[in-house]
Amino acid sequence: MAIQPHGGSLVHRLVTGEEREQYLQEAARLRKIPINNWTISDIDCIAVGAFSPLVGFMNQEDYSSVVDRMRLADGTVWSIPITLSFDEETAEAIELGERVALVGEKDGIIYAIMQVESIYEADQHHEAVQVYKTDDPAHPGVAKLFERSSVYAGGPITVLNRPQREKFGEYYFDPAETRRIFAEKGWRRIVGFQTRNPVHRAHEYIQKSAMEIVDGLFLNPLVGETKSDDISAEVRMKSYLVLLEHYYPQDRVFLGVFPAAMRYAGPREAIFHAIVRKNYGCTHFIVGRDHAGVGDYYGTYEAQEIFFNFTAEELGITPLFFEHSFYCTKCGNMASSKTCPHDPSDRMHLSGTKVRQMLREGKSPPPEFTRPEVAQVLIEGMSERVSAPMN
Ligand code: ADX
Repeated sequence: MAIQPHGGSLVHRLVTGEEREQYLQEAARLRKIPINNWTISDIDCIAVGAFSPLVGFMNQEDYSSVVDRMRLADGTVWSIPITLSFDEETAEAIELGERVALVGEKDGIIYAIMQVESIYEADQHHEAVQVYKTDDPAHPGVAKLFERSSVYAGGPITVLNRPQREKFGEYYFDPAETRRIFAEKGWRRIVGFQTRNPVHRAHEYIQKSAMEIVDGLFLNPLVGETKSDDISAEVRMKSYLVLLEHYYPQDRVFLGVFPAAMRYAGPREAIFHAIVRKNYGCTHFIVGRDHAGVGDYYGTYEAQEIFFNFTAEELGITPLFFEHSFYCTKCGNMASSKTCPHDPSDRMHLSGTKVRQMLREGKSPPPEFTRPEVAQVLIEGMSERVSAPMN
């Protein structure tokens, strides 16, 4: 038996065929609300049930409950607000109950129709402090939040179009598909791995440690919006493919992308990431050091500790916690403080900044840190970026 989706059933808000044609005709007559790529990715996640049980953007009741209690109004665990902003003029003109068309601001595509159930003024400072644990505008998630209008609109959506997948289209799988694929593989225990980085040796170590106790790994890199200094999804995808080819058993790993935007909300995002992977059919989820963190806004293990606020039943997916991992020269192995007795000076430590600097200079980090095949892909990716024409 596959794991139950969050809330009990997999949401499906996508219409096709004749039904879609009718909605498109209706949408042509509706008020048009411009939406950005972030919102388009949220809509797509709602459409296919990755965000089950959400069927649309949060109304005021769910929003306040999520911000203050990490639960939807009905008590279901949910840690990140999924909201839509309206500009003030639009908000004033709209009547509750009105149906509006959500249209890509760049491509003019009608992605969805929303039935507006709730229009409310959000206290974004409160939201920032609750969700991100800071209202510092230097935090990339907080900065994104403060860019938006504080007037939110909630209601169910019906989705008519999905975003174009120009890159690595063959690695997009909807939750219904991943569930089917895992079942076909005969996997009953599946561990999900979230990442927004290339897979370095520490990531590989915790993935493989988890793989020892489950049937398969769902390597599920996030490819939605990330901050500008994160390595591009395109380069990362190349690095995952080369790593899997050389170092992982093909029948024990499944690679598929996660189209959502990165929030950098640390602990709260870890809960969100776990719940969403449950919707994709994972039974377990890896949470290592400073999961979804940025700068030093969160304690190293805060994203693990937050799980203890919830019972195993209400989460449904089992988190697997890993200590900070490193290569120990004395052990001659990857290890963590749970398994290595040696002095910290025996551990190989490279900061992210140092690694990026080495790659930019065309130098491979040591193989104890990054597999040489991966380093090569990253070096090539960096040099393409540097030589790409500026516009
Ligand atoms: S994240 O923002 O997606 O969490 P990243 O891709 O670096 O960033 O991390 C993916 C997962 O690996 C997270 O669960 C993170 O906690 C874990 N992780 C990253 N580096 C280490 C490490 N050195 N030791 C243990 N866990 C790690």
